[in-house]
Amino acid sequence: MANKLKNQISILPENVANQIAAGEVVQRPASVVKELMENSLDSGASEINVLIKNSGKTSIQVIDNGHGINRDEMKLAFVRHATSKLKSAEDLFSINTLGFRGEALASISAIAHVHLISKTLAGKCYELFIDNTHENTVRETSGPKGVNMKIKNLFHNVPARRQFLKSDLIEFKHINDIFIQLSIANPMVRFTLSHNNTELAHFEPENLRQRISHVLGKKINENLIPIEESTDSVSISGYLLRPSSAKKVKGNQYLFLNKRPIKSNYIHKAIIEAFEGLIAPDMHPAYVIDLIVPNDRVDVNVHPAKTEVKFEDGHLVFKILCSAVKRSLGIHQVGPVIDFENNIQQHVSHKISKITTPPKIRVNPDFNPFELKDKNKPELIDFFSKKNKEVKQNSFSFDSDWDDDINVNSEHSNFFLPPNYIVTKLKSSLVIINALRAKRRILFDSLINALENGGGINSQSWVFPEKLELISKSNIELWHDELKKLGYHWEDNHDHYIFSAGPAFLSQSEGIKCLDEFILQNPEEKDYKKLALSWLSKITNGYSEKSDSKLSDFVDLLFQSNNPWTDPYGKTITHILDSNALAYQFK
Ligand SMILES: Nc1ncnc2c1ncn2[C@@H]1O[C@H](COP(=O)(O)OP(=O)(O)OP(=O)(O)O)[C@@H](O)[C@H]1O
Ligand SMILES: [Mg+2]
Repeated sequence: MANKLKNQISILPENVANQIAAGEVVQRPASVVKELMENSLDSGASEINVLIKNSGKTSIQVIDNGHGINRDEMKLAFVRHATSKLKSAEDLFSINTLGFRGEALASISAIAHVHLISKTLAGKCYELFIDNTHENTVRETSGPKGVNMKIKNLFHNVPARRQFLKSDLIEFKHINDIFIQLSIANPMVRFTLSHNNTELAHFEPENLRQRISHVLGKKINENLIPIEESTDSVSISGYLLRPSSAKKVKGNQYLFLNKRPIKSNYIHKAIIEAFEGLIAPDMHPAYVIDLIVPNDRVDVNVHPAKTEVKFEDGHLVFKILCSAVKRSLGIHQVGPVIDFENNIQQHVSHKISKITTPPKIRVNPDFNPFELKDKNKPELIDFFSKKNKEVKQNSFSFDSDWDDDINVNSEHSNFFLPPNYIVTKLKSSLVIINALRAKRRILFDSLINALENGGGINSQSWVFPEKLELISKSNIELWHDELKKLGYHWEDNHDHYIFSAGPAFLSQSEGIKCLDEFILQNPEEKDYKKLALSWLSKITNGYSEKSDSKLSDFVDLLFQSNNPWTDPYGKTITHILDSNALAYQFK
């Protein structure tokens, strides 16, 4: 009998159904911020203030000056499928609001405590609590026009979800990302963001170009290339960033469809295709693009968080966007920025008749080029400094089929062959080193060592300290330890940072670019290898005696590295030219 009862179908109580639905709508505090900000935008607000406590774990409050909710509808707003934005199925194809499902508030109130204050233009001000302590009734109160919605104790009744939340810094980064996205999408709206009573961002109404530079940094302004195209199928407007702003990690891509922030790999590919030849194949161009597509040609109801859409004629949108981007790049005479390295094989083509085996190197396994002689001395070794006399000449020896125990390093056996090669003499052969790749190998090993073990990287003061707006604050805090290990110095000045030093081996502008790279990394996967590789892509100059160590020290460092034969991208660093190979050249 008991089993029979178990198998009976029954409709779930509303609170249980809402809690299940909430699982899809509200994944983390940032989801609540998104839904509340979207509701405020839909209400025609010209001013939206977002106040967060403890990364949203304690409270999330969004205050707007929009049309408000009528007294009679305040309770209804929290019922599932209750919406003022959709009346019939046909309306689904003419949606011009961010919300349409009538699910967000029902889901939020199923897993958190709510305090709503609302005043419409004509009506009085009312409040409603949906929590365990207050009576669930609408009462009169006082306040300005609009909605003031405060969400507390998120996931109080879903402990597993609460435990699943990431650190405060990571959760706040997600909130920050949503806030930035919606601020860029709506430049005519005034936005503020506060965290734990500190105002972190404040944007006055402005045009898109101004908003982009306020949000992403003033320097970006000179890198913006306008894009504009209008056809029957799609209107395109916004800005592309010059190819030099492209990054190995995705980050500065803002795509809006009918003002709705969306994600679309397909559209991203269209833009990548247009940048072909201007950026390396594994880089992502940055952009802020607004697509306007007739509402009946796009389905916005294909994703629980409303972040994906389905175009009726995606292929056409792809083509139009791709050619619009190309045209805009062309008009603004944007040229390639790829570092087209000369490949040494083009210059020294030789076939070695004898089967060559890679030379064996004997490495002292205990040798650590970053180890300090005096362990108590806090000073760091500057691995590219001419003053660095710590390089251990005897830490490796070069042992090949051609030469026995010959130390590569000797003052007179190296010379630089511009633009990018170093030639090192062995007893009966030459080692030709691609200097740029060698530099990348040396840097890669040092970066990984610094990030993993805190191995020393020297810091260098910058001539003009760099001001960083607070919008990046959460990211800087997330990477605090790593940035310190890499030699960055900064001051936290309440609403901005002043960076005064960076790694000595990078120029100030390279150091700032690399900082950007940090900020864009996904903090949930602290992937040092990926980070180091993205830094290396910033290094475009090979060897220079001015900025690098003495040639012989440089060669030493290469041969002390983990793998002096290939760079971190797997490209050949060193070629050995022995007498057989030379003989072949003279045939
Ligand atoms: N800030 C606000 N100002 C005015 N009305 C609001 C506000 N927030 C919510 N509402 C009203 O409450 C209703 C329910 O909001 P809710 O977010 O749950 O659904 P929705 O926005 O219609 O759809 P979706 O679930 O896709 O967000 C809205 O349709 C709207 O009428
Ligand atoms: Mg909504």
